[in-house]
Amino acid sequence: MKGVILAGGLGSRLLPLTKITNKHLLPIYDRPMVYFPLQTLADAGIRDILLVTGGNNAGDFLRLLENGEEFGCTLRYAYQRGEGGIAAALRLAQPFAGSDDIAVLLGDNIFQNGISSAAREFDQQGGGARVLLKEVSDPTRFGVPTIENGRIVHIAEKPRQPASHFAVTGCYFYDASVFEKIERCRPSNRKELEITDVNNLYLAEQHLHHSLVDGWWSDAGTFESLHRVSVLVEAMVHDASHTMAAVSGR
Ligand code: G1P
Repeated sequence: MKGVILAGGLGSRLLPLTKITNKHLLPIYDRPMVYFPLQTLADAGIRDILLVTGGNNAGDFLRLLENGEEFGCTLRYAYQRGEGGIAAALRLAQPFAGSDDIAVLLGDNIFQNGISSAAREFDQQGGGARVLLKEVSDPTRFGVPTIENGRIVHIAEKPRQPASHFAVTGCYFYDASVFEKIERCRPSNRKELEITDVNNLYLAEQHLHHSLVDGWWSDAGTFESLHRVSVLVEAMVHDASHTMAAVSGR
């Protein structure tokens, strides 16, 4: 399986922080945001990775991440002209993916305990797609599934009246038919090719499965979520150093 990190977009909900830089280069506690999806993929054993970005700061990603050596992976880049939504950015990954399965991570999504178990479950399901769900207090900000008898039957993008308390997080596993599905999508009201439409096409074929996120999950695309996730990461870093100190007897 190959990995794709989507790190484009205008980050307009974070202005003026994103006026002169890309959202995914902003700090989360002690490191740039884009380190998290990269580490998450590497930890799941996915080491052949494409980063899709655009705008004026694309070159900064190259200088920051180089060829991915620091994360033990091989990193390639694709440049997105303009903004066309998540599915439009993903379309650029087709030559990279070829006929392989892909794990797609939105660059501002952070998973406390990674995505390894979901990646294993996707491997075992034999094709189709898999999304990760997390219960949230503010589902109207996200893609929201309608769940019947334990199965997703529909996903609505940022619904005013959510059908459940779950968010579809920004981690998606797809087989190679994802690119043909993207071609069938049309721009939404916000003039974007929506990843939710792609997922609903898999649902129509009954090929969309889901896992639940283990541990905390957050996006970092708003001031509140950027701050919250920085605090969560700070606690995680301190816990890790306390554990290491305890193990080494210091
Ligand atoms: C995107 C997706 C949405 C998903 C969210 C997760 O929203 O469109 O379905 O729940 O990422 O972070 P965006 O952040 O682009 O508004």
